Amino acid sequence: MTDNLAQEVAKRRTFAIISHPDAGKTTITEQLLLFGGVIRQAGTVKGKKSGHFAKSDWMEIEKKRGISVTSSVMQFDYQGKRINILDTPGHEDFSEDTYRTLMAVDAAVMVIDSAKGIEPQTKKLFKVVKKRGIPIFTFMNKLDRDGREPLDLIAELEDLLNIEGYPMNWPIGMGKGLKGLYDRENNRIELYRPQDDAHRFLPLDQTTGEVIGTNPLQDESIYQQTLEDIDLLKEAGNQFDLTKVMHGEQTPVYFGSALTNFGVETFLNSFVKYAPAPSAYETQDGEEISPTDPNFSGFVFKIQANMNPAHRDRIAFVRVCSGEFTKGMDVTLQRTGKKLRLNNSTEFMADAREQVTDAVAGDIVGLYDTGNFQIGDTIYTGKKVIAFKKLPQFTPELFMKVTPKNVMKQKSFHKGMQQLVQEGAIQLYRTMNTDEYILGAVGQLQFEVFQFRMQHEYNSEVEMTPIGSRTARWIDNPDKLDEHASSSRNLLVKDVNGDPLFLFENDFALRWFNDKYPDVHLTARFQSE
Ligand code: G4P
Repeated sequence: MTDNLAQEVAKRRTFAIISHPDAGKTTITEQLLLFGGVIRQAGTVKGKKSGHFAKSDWMEIEKKRGISVTSSVMQFDYQGKRINILDTPGHEDFSEDTYRTLMAVDAAVMVIDSAKGIEPQTKKLFKVVKKRGIPIFTFMNKLDRDGREPLDLIAELEDLLNIEGYPMNWPIGMGKGLKGLYDRENNRIELYRPQDDAHRFLPLDQTTGEVIGTNPLQDESIYQQTLEDIDLLKEAGNQFDLTKVMHGEQTPVYFGSALTNFGVETFLNSFVKYAPAPSAYETQDGEEISPTDPNFSGFVFKIQANMNPAHRDRIAFVRVCSGEFTKGMDVTLQRTGKKLRLNNSTEFMADAREQVTDAVAGDIVGLYDTGNFQIGDTIYTGKKVIAFKKLPQFTPELFMKVTPKNVMKQKSFHKGMQQLVQEGAIQLYRTMNTDEYILGAVGQLQFEVFQFRMQHEYNSEVEMTPIGSRTARWIDNPDKLDEHASSSRNLLVKDVNGDPLFLFENDFALRWFNDKYPDVHLTARFQSE
């Protein structure tokens, strides 16, 4: 296949959906899987009653068992392209893995509930994606319900997210009055409830902008309103600019309704057209590794334990950055310089995990791990040593003090602590003076998983005492601190690298500190706010 490497890479479209819980991510994912022919029936992802489970559902099952937290990968072929959707768990599953998954994609789809507009979690995830400068496509969902004014929704993108919005289509009515979409990209009208599928699209005359043939909407006032909006957009709106889109400076916006499968196919076709194939990843030396470089390379963006209920295994998720992955290949693990044979790997399709055959740049492979890997590890073949840029650490927002229940079992406690922290879903801090353990996480569930796994994998029962939600700030110049600088309101701790930071009780405590110690420089590192 190596001869075809460039062709294969050009087919890949790897993305994640970012949204606030309940905006419709699951529903739209399911529609995409339906178009991809992976599932045959709507309701398989969500409709637990039917007894069919699809894709991300084993995650749900795992969650019920209380031990799995993170994303799955869904792959399908569509219009000659191989699509990889990386799930970004929301709700209480929200974790650093959710953020890190965004490091392994080439584009993002932002799903927004058109009644609610941009919500907090969307904003958080958006920031991470924006920092990477990759394209972001927007789906304004739930058009079958009364929502906010479309012009408002577009304006909000600029106001709240600082990204230009370019509407690829425009609603004709909404809620009960939803009639269709004025599709600027394809120069046609897409009817919401056509009399039959053959009448779904009404082509528009290129010059006059009028419907060619009869137009059932001609006399509807809502249609006239849409035409006025379209004129306004033409005169005062943004120009479509693919270069800006590719850099995440402009987002193409598609209106629709995932639940009624309206506008989803139009979105998907457009997405497949514009979304980029994998591009180069940068190394720590600033070198760009081309996705068509014949030497294999990739990095571990998450490690997940216990995915298979039958085994107690860990899987390292690797984003392939170049070359071709073949089962049984020998790679070098950059961090240790050790050679590893990748015999045991998996790909994520349908309900079952199947063996990888031909993964190239853009694809994700899961490697069964017996403790070799850490989050952020680079693996590669070839002579030249490469290490991809470090994955950002995301500042935890929730903190717990943790102690072993049985003081006689210190050894297993420390071992479990060390290994689970290494997986990266949870951060470890030690209080500066008393050396107590403090755990930090982005989402609550990580603590429960930690506790569960300590008990079941390391036979160490732990006591967790919440110290609540805190604002973490690293201290750039600790020499400026005096002995009064730390209190319970700004707890002085060190991270695993020994770097000192404060855990502030709240923003008020942070401001108070800043006023009192103006010479102490505090930084948020990668802040998710
Ligand atoms: P999420 O993964 O982003 O959390 O959202 P999900 O798809 O689960 O959707 C959240 C709720 O919104 C679901 O309703 C879903 O049916 C509904 N929904 C999604 N897309 C649309 C849409 O285009 N129009 C309308 N009207 N509703 C939509 P639920 O009642 O919470 O769940 P369920 O009991 O129907 O599964």
